[in-house]
Amino acid sequence: MYKFVINGGRKLAGEVVVSGAKNASLALMPASLLAPGVYSISNTPDLMDVSTMSKLMETLGARVTLAGTTQTIDTTRVKNFEAPYELVKKMRASIYVLGPLVARYGYAKVSLPGGCAWGPRPVNLHIEGMEKLGAEISLDSGYIVARAKKLRGGKINFDVSSVGATGNVMMAAVLAEGTTEIGNAALEPEIVALGEFLKKMGAKIEGLGTPTITVEGVSELHPHDFENIPDRIEAGTFLVAGALAGGTVNVANCEPRHLSALLSKLEEAGARLEIGNRFVKLEAPEKILPVDVSTAPYPGFPTDMQAQWIALMARSTGSSVVADNIYFDRFKHVPELIRLGADIEVKENIAFVKGVGALKGAKVMSTDLRASASLVLAGLVAEGTTEVLRVYHMDRGYEHIETKLGGIGADIRRVQSEEF
Ligand code: UD1
Repeated sequence: MYKFVINGGRKLAGEVVVSGAKNASLALMPASLLAPGVYSISNTPDLMDVSTMSKLMETLGARVTLAGTTQTIDTTRVKNFEAPYELVKKMRASIYVLGPLVARYGYAKVSLPGGCAWGPRPVNLHIEGMEKLGAEISLDSGYIVARAKKLRGGKINFDVSSVGATGNVMMAAVLAEGTTEIGNAALEPEIVALGEFLKKMGAKIEGLGTPTITVEGVSELHPHDFENIPDRIEAGTFLVAGALAGGTVNVANCEPRHLSALLSKLEEAGARLEIGNRFVKLEAPEKILPVDVSTAPYPGFPTDMQAQWIALMARSTGSSVVADNIYFDRFKHVPELIRLGADIEVKENIAFVKGVGALKGAKVMSTDLRASASLVLAGLVAEGTTEVLRVYHMDRGYEHIETKLGGIGADIRRVQSEEF
């Protein structure tokens, strides 16, 4: 077990390079189940979640290796169609194998993911989507079992915009007989990347990045190489770090178009931005101005940046209101930020944040991926030493975070720890 030990108060400056998108990788990998063969995916991040998905793919019979940032996937010998509880409970995105397996092999058995640190996260839309495509679904001892001789196209209209359900249904529909229309489809860049990858493999998809995606099924797909997109949440986390503790920080190898909601909020908070081709240079505000945010599906402000935004607002010059409309209970970082001296009150899905003059270092505990990012950010500006326990949460989604933050001037060390 490791913890981060952070000595706060160092000014951040310099360039930090963003890795490939975790949430895109987690969709691209299962998509390779749709056509047996060898794939090369560049710009793949080296993360716990990616290695959990690799383990799952290997359980199915695929071979997955990562050399530098290039991932090679060989799906020639897939022969098992079951995603076990032990892996799915570690990572909900494991459910992404459901669509490809049932579409390609006519059978899939995937553990139900269960609860999550920030409340219930149902998978009903994934199941309903598969049923609309003609799969027979049963629930058996905690597993979703899906069967279909051949999927057929259907019309699906999601009541809620869901990244995972859109991706899963799209992967199933590409090999279905006939045309599928997905209404209220997710617009997230990771779904667009998945769709582009499927198109390279021979799928016929229209409307990516719009609320209506149309998929015309084909009888066969073929392996194809792909370059993953940059991680917009990692980029956003470095930008917020810069706004809190900069200096001037250049966030390189990002896609500014994917960051527009965050960039305009950072400007409102007083940061000065230079936006270029694949980079955003941020000059920190002298005073952080209070700015309300309300999370929404893309292109709105991402729920995956809510915890980091609260850390920024904790040091603002006034009062702000941060609402999470995607995950109502996603505020586990708040009591820990309060331990660092923040003044925050949560009522239902809204955090009321009063900026304080200073945060003070303390021992705090991560409870999930983005909560841990928010604690590390707060630690960068807290007086004295902050220890963030349970950093395995952070390792799920941030590649070598201490090296990257250290490279722009943070004093942060990963230390072995018996504390849990
Ligand atoms: C993805 C991201 C996650 C991000 C989230 C929202 C991946 C691997 N993860 O998660 O980082 O926080 O999008 O941007 O890409 N819902 C249902 N029924 C379902 C599925 C979802 O009601 O069957 C609801 C959820 O409870 C939530 C909303 O839909 O309120 C959006 O969730 P969804 O987009 O599906 O999240 P994930 O794909 O799990």
